[in-house]
Amino acid sequence: MPSPHQTIIAPSILAGDHGNLRSSLQIIEGAKLEWVHLDIMDGHFVPNLSFGPQSVKALRPGSDLFFDVHLMLDNPHRYIDAFVDAGAAQITIHVEPDYPVEATLRHIKEKGCRCGIVLNPDTPADAGEPFLPLCDIVLLMTVQPGFGGQSFRHDVLPKIKQFDQWRKELTLNYRLEVDGGVDLETAPLCTAQGADTLVAGTAFFKAEDQAAFIETVAS
Ligand code: DX5
Ligand code: ZN
Repeated sequence: MPSPHQTIIAPSILAGDHGNLRSSLQIIEGAKLEWVHLDIMDGHFVPNLSFGPQSVKALRPGSDLFFDVHLMLDNPHRYIDAFVDAGAAQITIHVEPDYPVEATLRHIKEKGCRCGIVLNPDTPADAGEPFLPLCDIVLLMTVQPGFGGQSFRHDVLPKIKQFDQWRKELTLNYRLEVDGGVDLETAPLCTAQGADTLVAGTAFFKAEDQAAFIETVAS
């Protein structure tokens, strides 16, 4: 059975112009896409820094894009209010750090925001399973998080299938998102396993023909 959802491409502005992130949003809007993926890094959970709630808030006015906020933080629970207030429509949090994951998911929901969990490539699927009833989305990393432009991890493909199976068996309706190294070649591998939401940084912003990329990847 195919995924219950239509495929969504969520370009990551990590690969956009950091001197003018608004222009990166405009490129996404010009391509008639509806989501933007915002990668938030703390320099602890991942060995890189990106941008914070102040930047997200500054980007919010003047854009109707759905803000898909991916928190790569050791202490994401401390920043939920800041990102909801900044305009996040959805917040995803990693299961690997030591903090109250379930309470944080509930808090995101109570704030009126969509929520979900994220698993690193080497994190077993079982680590996410207990949280599924609370999730609007499950994000599976197909690279080690921290940097754009890395190679897709093919060994994550069975995990995508596992979460798709659980979705059916448990009659849940979460989206299944993949993030990292998703391009013309790897996107179909992910959708074949049940992924319906594709983060694309490098492959979108560096595409010679964005319309062709979208057409091919989302069809
Ligand atoms: C990695 C980020 C990704 C990244 C994807 O830490 O979570 O969203 O920007 O970039 P590409 O598509 O270039 O692999
Ligand atoms: Zn991401």
